[in-house]
Amino acid sequence: MTPRVLSGIQPSGNLHIGNYLGALANWVRIQHDYESIFCIVDLHAITVYQKPDELRAKIREIAALFLAAGIDPKHSRIMVQSTVSGHAELAWLLTCVTPMGWLDRMTQFKAKSAAQESVGDGLFQYPVLMAADILLYQANIVPVGEDQMQHLELARDIAQRFNSLYGDTFVMPATKLPLVGARVMGLDDPSTKMSKSALGAGHAVAMLDDPTRIRKTIMKATTDSNPGVDFETMGSGVANLLAIFQAFSEWTNDQMQAHFAGMRYGDLKKQVAEMTISKLEPIQKRYAEIVADPGYLEGVLRDGADAVRPTADATVRLVKERMGIYTPTA
Ligand code: TRP
Repeated sequence: MTPRVLSGIQPSGNLHIGNYLGALANWVRIQHDYESIFCIVDLHAITVYQKPDELRAKIREIAALFLAAGIDPKHSRIMVQSTVSGHAELAWLLTCVTPMGWLDRMTQFKAKSAAQESVGDGLFQYPVLMAADILLYQANIVPVGEDQMQHLELARDIAQRFNSLYGDTFVMPATKLPLVGARVMGLDDPSTKMSKSALGAGHAVAMLDDPTRIRKTIMKATTDSNPGVDFETMGSGVANLLAIFQAFSEWTNDQMQAHFAGMRYGDLKKQVAEMTISKLEPIQKRYAEIVADPGYLEGVLRDGADAVRPTADATVRLVKERMGIYTPTA
């Protein structure tokens, strides 16, 4: 059987080249080897307050970017979490088998809740909803970044606990895709991963940034005090710029070394900026075409949800049966 891949992305903040090179570009590359579901997790987004109009727009923007980047809707499913009711329903059923102590240990909850004045219960439950996303489709592979590993392990723990309480029901999701994408760091601070929610102007290059802005952001990127590129002693900022160039260009290490060794940082940045612009340009062009036809986009999302709903419904029904919840027979 073809392994099923599931991943999710929150419709908050701007998708950036870190999301593209670290996730999206890989999904595009491997999509035909798997049965893939790409889920826009709007129910996760509302675990912190979102302005309704912005959230509405973001969901469509992300769906259009998936398509523009090359996700093939004839083969892969692109869907919005809230349009398949099984996500929320399974989350509740799993909540009832998840010890609070497990959730208490989640580092992302600690980090996110520290920044909030008042913390919604949804933020605490966030990892259970993510477990539901995965287990609902009996996904085999869940490509996520390092920062989501704890949540993925929790999903496995929840599946195991459910299976031991109620009998074998869930497939154990494997932790990772064998293929890893580039890990792009913040341009202003190469010690942290590029983030959708970081607010600093020099932090990220968004997939929809125009060339002027891209040049400006990259020209300001943090480097180090070497006079030029030195592959032996370079700091993390220079390494990050080279990694971005290499991920976009798909050059070999030898090509990279031959071309960039000794290059002054101003020139390096110019080349990284031009490479980035040239690779984002066709995606941005397709994006503009896709959003010009809202009916098409709605159709993709509807078809995606319709295609996965039978699997979701079957899982919810099975879980209910296993738990002894009322499942009408007629
Ligand atoms: N929590 C993930 C993130 O912030 C998003 C997500 C939600 C997800 N549900 C998922 C990722 C299911 C993989 C599978 O990146």
